[in-house]
Amino acid sequence: MLVDAVVELLRPAAARWIVDCTAGSGGHAEALLAAAPLQTSLVAIDCDSENLCTVKRRLEPLTGRPGRLRCFPCNFACIRDVLAQVGAPSVDTLLADLGLCSSQLDDASRGFTFTVDGPLDMRMDRPSDLPTASELVNRLPESELADLLYQHADERHSRRIAHAIVLSRRQKRIERTVELAEIVSRALGGRRGAKIHPATRTFMALRIAVNDELRNLDELLAALPDVLAVGGRAAIISFHSHEDRRVKQAFLSMKSAGLGKIITPKPVVADDEEIKANPRSRSAKLRCIERV
Ligand SMILES: C[S@@+](CC[C@H](N)C(=O)[O-])C[C@H]1O[C@@H](n2cnc3c(N)ncnc32)[C@H](O)[C@@H]1O
Repeated sequence: MLVDAVVELLRPAAARWIVDCTAGSGGHAEALLAAAPLQTSLVAIDCDSENLCTVKRRLEPLTGRPGRLRCFPCNFACIRDVLAQVGAPSVDTLLADLGLCSSQLDDASRGFTFTVDGPLDMRMDRPSDLPTASELVNRLPESELADLLYQHADERHSRRIAHAIVLSRRQKRIERTVELAEIVSRALGGRRGAKIHPATRTFMALRIAVNDELRNLDELLAALPDVLAVGGRAAIISFHSHEDRRVKQAFLSMKSAGLGKIITPKPVVADDEEIKANPRSRSAKLRCIERV
């Protein structure tokens, strides 16, 4: 299981400070906390404040001492500010398990999936003033929409999809997930027999754009040399090639600057059993680096 690999690679038993940058529903945080001594403190970050409430409820009873768990509803790009607030000069263990968790995907009102109808929202941080996916598809010029689909999700049919979106929004604003999925499906002729739904890449690209996911990841990766204590380790789990490429490149840069030792020359991936139990883990890639 990837969670076991995370605990083994991140060595929480020797940590004074652990940061889970993407606390989600608290599964990884719980495993890290369970493997750490009582003096270890855990900082849990998630930009989705609803998720962070779940984490607090789940972990607070397991902490064993007051003040051991500190929760921050914010973007992990702000990790330096978070550490300054808790008074941690640097951390020994850092995890970022990127993307979404199933509670977000399964909630139709969040608009992340085309499998159920819901508002085309896609903001991880719902109360924020980020533009929603609906605002992007209704506002962006056709060429920008096509570039977004191609650059964020390698959508080969980006121009055809962007054109169909623009024709459709002239008739009526696109507000619902199923509406957009149908526009994309029609534009691509249904693609019978295709391995994935024709709208999969469109939804992925919009989610990445709405939440500025790649820039946030770049900021976290850029902060690693400063926030990791010497001997401390960071593990990043990514779910698509754009993320993994950035993680790999940032780790190589740390290594060539003499600031990091790569612990996983090849990414750790889920085994067949885990993929069967959790099909989403099929695309997970776990990489780990140690600050030297
Ligand atoms: C795959 S889930 C993490 C699951 C978690 N490891 C667990 O065991 O439950 C990813 C989480 O990261 C959060 N997230 C994604 N990007 C973020 C960012 N830039 N800053 C803070 N949280 C983020 C999402 O809201 C989501 O809750």
